[in-house]
Amino acid sequence: MYTTSRERMVRSVLLKAEALTKNFEGLKAVDAVDLHINEGEIVAIIGPNGAGKTTLFNLISGMHRPTSGKVLFQGEAINNIKPYQIADKGIKRTFQTTALFDQLRVLDNLVIGQRVRTKTGLWDALFRTKLSKREREESAVRVLQTASFIGLGNQLTDFVSTLSQEAQKRLAIGIALVSEPKLILLDEPTGGINPGETAGLIDLIKRIRDSGVTVCLIEHKMRMVMNMADRIIVLNYGKKIAEGTPEEVCNNKLVIQAYLGGKCIA
Ligand SMILES: Nc1ncnc2c1ncn2[C@@H]1O[C@H](COP(=O)(O)OP(=O)(O)OP(=O)(O)O)[C@@H](O)[C@H]1O
Ligand SMILES: [Mg+2]
Repeated sequence: MYTTSRERMVRSVLLKAEALTKNFEGLKAVDAVDLHINEGEIVAIIGPNGAGKTTLFNLISGMHRPTSGKVLFQGEAINNIKPYQIADKGIKRTFQTTALFDQLRVLDNLVIGQRVRTKTGLWDALFRTKLSKREREESAVRVLQTASFIGLGNQLTDFVSTLSQEAQKRLAIGIALVSEPKLILLDEPTGGINPGETAGLIDLIKRIRDSGVTVCLIEHKMRMVMNMADRIIVLNYGKKIAEGTPEEVCNNKLVIQAYLGGKCIA
């Protein structure tokens, strides 16, 4: 748990989208997108507002069914199964608007994130019913490790409503991380945070990748993307218009026209 496995990582394809398309009443929100995410990398999805970035995450995580096309996770098609089954296969996500139980404590939020994955499920997480002794112990260890990993180890009993915006963002990531996913999808992990407060989140995201969990994130803060992403995929009007290293994307004319507004911020 939380060891550095980056050096040992073999770069195989973890997730693949093939001609992935989602129409909303004539609007092609995602339009024949082909992409792949390799094990062990941080991939950033960028593009203007309304480009289809969140819809892409909704398709991968099963919240939307594609109009056409496929999503393959570790070689297996996952586009016709339910969101909880996709989560169970090891894909977890956060949302553009942070979704926390803000009347509960940090600890409760992490326990719920963890228990949703165990056999006994959410019902038992809420009503604290039967878990095996081993499950209880493993779950407690994982929750404590995760709290410490996200920098909230000393705030376990704090109510979420008292946390800073930045700490709430870290907790939302912790809830996704606590169930040991293989791939984590972060929808604007620094949304609403001012640029001066993003250093801790950048460090956390890099440590997630270094611990062996593959990261795909949507982000508008270009300086952050350029400093952190191994690879960038650019969407515009639902279509993939470019992909490559930060440097390649930064120098791509289509991307500069559609999104970067004429200047590169590497
Ligand atoms: N459930 C829906 N029903 C109808 N249209 C939708 C739905 N979800 C998204 N859209 C439309 O699909 C397009 C893509 O939306 P999406 O939320 O994926 O964009 P985005 O790239 O995440 O934008 P932002 O950067 O503003 O978050 C937009 O035109 C949006 O209005
Ligand atoms: Mg979005």
